[in-house]
Amino acid sequence: MRLVLLGPPGAGKGTQAGVLCNTYSLMHMSTGDLLREAVKNNSPVGVQAKSYMDKGELVPDEIVTRMITEKLKKQDVSDGFILDGFPRTKNQAQILEAALNDLNLPLDMVVYFDTNEETILKRLTGRRICRDCGKIFHITNIPPKKDGICDACEGELYQRDDDKEETIKNRIKVYNKQTSDLIDYYGQKKILNKVSGDLDVDELFEVLKNTFEKSGLK
Ligand code: AP5
Repeated sequence: MRLVLLGPPGAGKGTQAGVLCNTYSLMHMSTGDLLREAVKNNSPVGVQAKSYMDKGELVPDEIVTRMITEKLKKQDVSDGFILDGFPRTKNQAQILEAALNDLNLPLDMVVYFDTNEETILKRLTGRRICRDCGKIFHITNIPPKKDGICDACEGELYQRDDDKEETIKNRIKVYNKQTSDLIDYYGQKKILNKVSGDLDVDELFEVLKNTFEKSGLK
């Protein structure tokens, strides 16, 4: 199964990607995670990307497309993958399409998480992430058993720098201006499936499972 998860910040793309990758043994590729890793390592890409990420702006296309196309070339993705947070512009979508055609591995489906703004704000202001294993929690929706500690590995939970209210508002604006056009783009290619991002994690997983079954994907 070869999927793109598309939707506004906080729609639950990363959370569902985790569940889906475990269930269907897919490779998870998140440009947000790759960029945060680069920032943490202070690599040249990380240094360039940080100022954009801190403001909630998109990192330039050439940086993210290079990151993903290199990953697609280096790793064996023939058993399936989930792209989470990529593509985010029409240019990125076209470069992705060409790279996947070269590999003879075109996308099966783009899942659009339709999510209301109130849900987004509540989810992002309450999000906490494990510093060690990257597991995603929420202070009220998906709380850890012990405050501030990861259930899976006992790592420390932290709040992302761009999960501050002002930056979140800009990320939503940027999404509406630069990314939401991809809904029509993939709609016209007849591979778009819309689901409600407002559902809870288990409900949404059930909807996704049924959607894949109906489309013959496994
Ligand atoms: P990125 O990391 O991709 O951020 P995003 O798209 O803004 O998405 P998020 O990670 O914030 O949200 P999510 O939908 O994954 O939600 P999650 O599952 O965590 O990008 C960050 C930055 O990197 C960008 O601003 C940009 O600068 C740069 N960047 C990345 N990709 C780029 C690209 N392609 N081009 C250019 N720049 C790029 O869930 C959120 C919270 O809600 C969590 O606390 C979770 O526990 C909770 N939750 C999740 N699902 C549910 C549910 N169903 N019910 C209740 N709570 C839930």
